Amino acid sequence: MQTKHAKFIITSVIYAVMMVALLQACAPLPEETSEAAAPGKSYSINEAFEIVAKENDVARTLYTKAIVGAGKKNGLKFHEDWEKDEMEAGPLPALFLRGIAGDIRKKGEVPLGLYLGSDFPIRKSNKFTGKQAELFAEMRKDSLPKFFYDEEAQLYTAMFPDFASAAPCVNCHNDHPETMKTDWVLGDIQGATTWTYPSDSVSFEELQGMIMAYRDGAAATLDTYIGKSKSFTEGGVPAVGEFPAKAGYSIPAPEVFLDSVNELAAEQTLKGILKI
Ligand code: HEC
Repeated sequence: MQTKHAKFIITSVIYAVMMVALLQACAPLPEETSEAAAPGKSYSINEAFEIVAKENDVARTLYTKAIVGAGKKNGLKFHEDWEKDEMEAGPLPALFLRGIAGDIRKKGEVPLGLYLGSDFPIRKSNKFTGKQAELFAEMRKDSLPKFFYDEEAQLYTAMFPDFASAAPCVNCHNDHPETMKTDWVLGDIQGATTWTYPSDSVSFEELQGMIMAYRDGAAATLDTYIGKSKSFTEGGVPAVGEFPAKAGYSIPAPEVFLDSVNELAAEQTLKGILKI
């Protein structure tokens, strides 16, 4: 897995450097573009947050639609208590994200924090407090990401809106027995993803580390789900390999999932890395 990630990052970098070299060979570039070649450069932490947030958007949407949505149609189940022994289910999207956050924290190699909260959460522990609650109220009005330095935690912090992008987001949240709000509609900001990092800028290598930590976390969470699915008895043990739309009662292998994330996010991530 590591090798595969490293390969992607290295390929991206080579591609990025080649693109810049090629562009420079073809025509003189404005100063700021020609200086945007990736390695050796640094990024403001807000630029870095934007890049990982886009990765997260892609991975979360893919997980919600192609694993949870298509999986349900093919006999897979998803539940908030998916980790309990007796539960034959996979993680809901919010818990997939928490799995990623937990994996990044547990490995401790990259000081990147990730949290999904709301002003009307299903789970009380997901309620924003303090400065994040204040800024989330602003986000409700302007729908824009928020960036600030959290003095108390001494962490640079970014919040990105989490939109109700599909009917199940709204239906499940409105109907949940513990919900604080029953009138969510499609397109609402249901919450926000909060990212934290201890320094105000990162090197290219550190940015690479952030992206890889996120992807490793996604792979590890999928692996945990696949491991758990080996004990399923109700519907039998799901196949592992392809997405359910292709293979039916199946969970995609982590590398298959990440390949799709790569394909969907590569262009945007590359633009972010190159600052174009
Ligand atoms: C099948 C039910 C279900 C679906 C579908 C679902 N959620 Fe959730 N969501 C939950 C549950 C349950 C939690 C609380 C999980 C926890 O923290 O234990 C949650 C947590 C959240 C949170 C954190 C705040 C809170 O409410 O606790 C946000 C934000 C959120 N979901 C947004 C979404 C969005 C956006 C979608 C669609 C892309 C979505 N959810 C799809 C059930 C669902």
